[in-house]
Amino acid sequence: MTMRVTGQVTVPGDKSISHRALMFAALAQPGARSVVREILDSADVRSTAAVLRALGVPIPVFSPAMTITGVGRRGLAAASAALDCGNSGTTTRLMAGILAASAFRSILVGDDSLSGRPMRRVARPLEAMGARIALSAGEHLPMRIDGGALSPLRWKSETASAQVKSAILLAGLVAGVEVTVEEPSPTRDHTERFLRALGAPLTVGPTVAAGSVTLAPVVRDLTGFDLTVPGDPSSAAFFAGLASLADAGSLRLLNVLSSPTRDGFFRTLSAMGGAVARSAPCDTESGEQVTTYEIAPARLRSTRVGPGEVPSMIDELPLLACLAAHAEGETVISGAEELRVKESDRIATTVANLRTIGAQVEERPDGMVVVGSDAPLRGRIITHGDHRIAMAFAILGRRRGNAIEVDDPDCVAVSYPSFWRTLDEVTR
Ligand code: S3P
Repeated sequence: MTMRVTGQVTVPGDKSISHRALMFAALAQPGARSVVREILDSADVRSTAAVLRALGVPIPVFSPAMTITGVGRRGLAAASAALDCGNSGTTTRLMAGILAASAFRSILVGDDSLSGRPMRRVARPLEAMGARIALSAGEHLPMRIDGGALSPLRWKSETASAQVKSAILLAGLVAGVEVTVEEPSPTRDHTERFLRALGAPLTVGPTVAAGSVTLAPVVRDLTGFDLTVPGDPSSAAFFAGLASLADAGSLRLLNVLSSPTRDGFFRTLSAMGGAVARSAPCDTESGEQVTTYEIAPARLRSTRVGPGEVPSMIDELPLLACLAAHAEGETVISGAEELRVKESDRIATTVANLRTIGAQVEERPDGMVVVGSDAPLRGRIITHGDHRIAMAFAILGRRRGNAIEVDDPDCVAVSYPSFWRTLDEVTR
């Protein structure tokens, strides 16, 4: 049966920006009202909302236009119990930065997947600023933070991680001290764009490696804001992949965040021969860019993704590997060892699942090589509870001739609760 795509998709709000919008709205000056429109209502963002509520911030129930009243940078109150971050690394690491500068004890916990992820990377710089942090076996959750007054910091990050960078910037913001972060290659810069849009004294400068960002001491609480969260490119990517694999039709993906640190997948899809048309970008209130994409079926060619490109498409790499299974030639993904410490070991889970369904793939410590073929791919994949693995293989499963069953379809709720419904709506 041929696969035809049709219609337009408004993907849910960007996950990274939704977390940050809640945090900046909470930290705004006492009484300042912020309106956050089109926030992503998913399990991960709900974790951030629940943690902020437990710290005394009046976060209302999720709605398309949420009004949040700030408590000020020093207005958080100690929680009466451990703070549950669920499956969300962004909640854990960004809140760790805020809590390191808050003068009380907090304990962060999470689900099994989150409890296996590395946390020393965020604890180390926060300890260097003066916070006292204890981790289980020196690396994992639960994380106990005794926060308070912090010292300025200049930090050279070994891993390209926007979460670590953001934790340091947020600690600097709340503590009112100067912080500089150097990163080995540029990662998503939503925290920086948000801070700058709110008038914070942020400068970006070149370094020997990729770049550095400095937040000068912030003396006053930030103001409230009115923000429409742009569509999540990591969610839109699935439908761009679907349209590329289709036999006929096209899909419009409306108002997708397209700032340069996040559009790597769309650039790579074009380079693979994808039929990707994009509208002229518009600006958002938090200093980001949004674009509407139109994607049509195409015969894809293999590509190479190296360490320089990885951060701009880190969450889209399992999907890229799935598309590569039907692209002409060998696709090589390297410099992507960070994939091993995501919601699952995404190198291992992607490789094992591609093999299960009959694709030819070689696992490497820092990536993989996928050999493209036209042969049908069939079988049952194991997600290990990882939302992006579920969605990447679901897309591959819709290609003509393929039949892929996903063991845990409900895990998409972490980032895209309406994924399956939208998938059925746009495929015929
Ligand atoms: C995120 C940063 C990335 C990304 C994650 C969201 C963020 O993680 O994979 O989904 O919102 O800052 P790392 O910073 O650990 O690479």
